[in-house]
Amino acid sequence: MTVTIARENAIAVVTVDNPPVNALSQALRQALVEAVAELDADATVKAVVLICAGRTFIAGADVSEFGKPPLPPHLPDVVARIEAAKKPWVAAIHGSALGGGLEVALGCAYRVAVASASLGLPEVKLGIIPGAGGTVRLPRLIGPAAAVDLVTSGSPIGAKKAEGLGLIDAILDGDVRAGAIAFAGDVAEKPLPQPISSRDVPAVDAGFWESAEKAVAAKARREIAPLRALASVRNASETDFAGAMAFERETFLDLRGSEQAAALRHVFFAERAAPRPPELAGITPRDIRSAAVIGGGTMGAGIAAALRDAGLPVVLIERDAAAVERGLANVRAIYEGSVKRGRMTQAVADERMAGVTGGDDYGLLADTDLVIEAVFEDLAVKRAVFEKLSSVCRPDAVLATNTSYLDPNAISEGVSHPERFLGLHFFSPAHIMKLLEIVPTETTAPDVLATGFALARLLGKIPVRAGICDGFIGNRILKVTRAQAERLLLSGATPSAVDAAMRAFGLPMGPFEAQDLGGLDIAAFQRKAARARGETPFALVADRLCAIERFGQKSGGGWYDYEPGDRAPKPSEAVAAIITEEAAGRPQQVWNEADIADAILLPMVNEATLILEERVALRSADIDLVKIHGYGFSRWRGGPMHYAEARGLSEVVVLLDRLASDGLADPPCAGLRRAAEAGGFSGLAG
Ligand code: 3HC
Ligand code: NAI
Repeated sequence: MTVTIARENAIAVVTVDNPPVNALSQALRQALVEAVAELDADATVKAVVLICAGRTFIAGADVSEFGKPPLPPHLPDVVARIEAAKKPWVAAIHGSALGGGLEVALGCAYRVAVASASLGLPEVKLGIIPGAGGTVRLPRLIGPAAAVDLVTSGSPIGAKKAEGLGLIDAILDGDVRAGAIAFAGDVAEKPLPQPISSRDVPAVDAGFWESAEKAVAAKARREIAPLRALASVRNASETDFAGAMAFERETFLDLRGSEQAAALRHVFFAERAAPRPPELAGITPRDIRSAAVIGGGTMGAGIAAALRDAGLPVVLIERDAAAVERGLANVRAIYEGSVKRGRMTQAVADERMAGVTGGDDYGLLADTDLVIEAVFEDLAVKRAVFEKLSSVCRPDAVLATNTSYLDPNAISEGVSHPERFLGLHFFSPAHIMKLLEIVPTETTAPDVLATGFALARLLGKIPVRAGICDGFIGNRILKVTRAQAERLLLSGATPSAVDAAMRAFGLPMGPFEAQDLGGLDIAAFQRKAARARGETPFALVADRLCAIERFGQKSGGGWYDYEPGDRAPKPSEAVAAIITEEAAGRPQQVWNEADIADAILLPMVNEATLILEERVALRSADIDLVKIHGYGFSRWRGGPMHYAEARGLSEVVVLLDRLASDGLADPPCAGLRRAAEAGGFSGLAG
């Protein structure tokens, strides 16, 4: 039963119970309409409390119904029916009132919430706008400026802020049900408040809409929903209720079928599936109550902060006392940065820092549950670290390496109880980037693998299981991205044209700007190692830039020139001359933005398909998450695999064949051809 009705004297309590998050399925919408009719007709009922079972108030429309035709009763009609109820309905909010859930609450005469509740209209994050009066009732209740903030950002707010805005009428202490019933008792005999739909919208300052539009456009980049949401709030502020509802609904239905909404829905479900891979169902992870990091450099400090932010006490081990001080200073710098940016108070930063103990004595780790190694990328150094850990740590302590390119199987040789060893590959900066690649070795026990996923949940990261190969999932694809970018240079494109094309596609940065920011030396070091293994990485121009110490911004020049103190890239004549020399004798062509993007993205998809075929990734959606959360691939594109599927894999194959025949890419792999015939990647890895 999705809705039950109980009576507490003259108060009816309507309980929604539609696990996991009380999403507004068709059955729930129907049941709500029926509940209004039943309670309207019951003369003994003076007021109604609308409350939810489980962990949250209604968290929104049922996103899984979005791909299908909408079924009646439609949500705007459900909200209108509640608003027209003869008795006051009181929305009793715990957990989250999001999207359609908040819209239902806006139909109620009153809204009350516990202090921990949050409220918001996250629709723009799904590529749509509110579709049941959110953009129309909200400006009527809290004014256009606050409505614009909520609707265009999609970010929820806490109960306290909601009360300040007039979005809720009271914050409840203690039990939500008892508090809401008492509130309903107080308002039962009062005249019904004016329905929000018939209230006027407060006036805005001159120029408000123009400046809001500029601000929203700048933030949204190429996402369409935020501007459309703004247009709907504006329209609602300037039109009558019925006209505004029609405009909102039309926009909602239009966006619901859009490519961006499909991509964002794909990411929504991929993110929610990632923490619970079916192959680990029923396996209990080990308890993690304390952690240690070996190495306090760029990654070690970031990982220590990430662990600490999740509430774990952290020990940071370095080589000697001076290195310990440097390592702790690196962690402190992270917290100081957070304080400076207003993300954290000094008191919180101090408390975090107080939970990080530094030392060079491995004896400190005798009772630590989890140790993550982030020392130099050198097999011998890493093995020596794990040898020490093997002798001091408890046999059930989980031991992890953050290596980027070394083989975790090789690192784990000699580790005692090797079933407790795995790769945990964080991304820089580790306290911010959401991706965590989890890399089991041949000997990793299932409960240790499950511990990796549990750790990701604890740290608020998106976990993706990766098999062992050079670069795991993300960096292996990155190598292809860079090689393709160079191929383009040698066939007539410039670094700025390539970067501009990738920005136009929706990436935050092009491949050359990104390399200049991160430094070209790291990749050069990896190419050296790859050549030592007998491989032939393709980086003619990058190798020449490194040979003349053009390592990027840090050396004053890389793919671009930089003025001192200025991060703006300027085209470099020296680089152009090197490109011309290396390109001599190769066919040249004129490149437009779309063709440049294809020449980079489609080979990435080809490599990703190989990754799936080799079961280095288990699901194509996992690869999308890797690119989105580790490399800034635009969410609204859905990741490279979703992008390729949405575009049509047959077209991808044709274009790749063409690039290959021009010598500009490898031909499509057999798996990609098979996936094209099957119409998608699903099943390829199974
Ligand atoms: N529709 C369908 N399923 C949903 C859902 C929704 N709106 N929201 C969450 N779920 C599912 C998840 O897929 C997951 O399913 P699973 O257990 O089978 O994997 C399950 O509910 C639990 O979700 P989380 O893991 O995210 O649970 P948390 O407790 O961590 O978070 C939450 C709860 C804060 C409510 C979070 O789920 C959330 O933010 N949900 C999305 C809310 C949202 O975007 N609502 C707006 C929808 S659009 C809308 O309402 C349009 C309207 O204007 C017409
Ligand atoms: P780094 O050079 O900034 O830090 C390494 C730290 O390890 C130094 O502080 C050094 O003093 C310490 N160290 C070296 N040997 C040690 C030992 N025996 N015991 C204790 N401490 C020791 O290097 P970075 O960038 O932090 O990389 C560390 C690891 O993380 C490498 O394996 C790297 O491949 C990996 N990684 C790096 C990423 C990056 O973007 N920098 C991203 C993801 C992984």
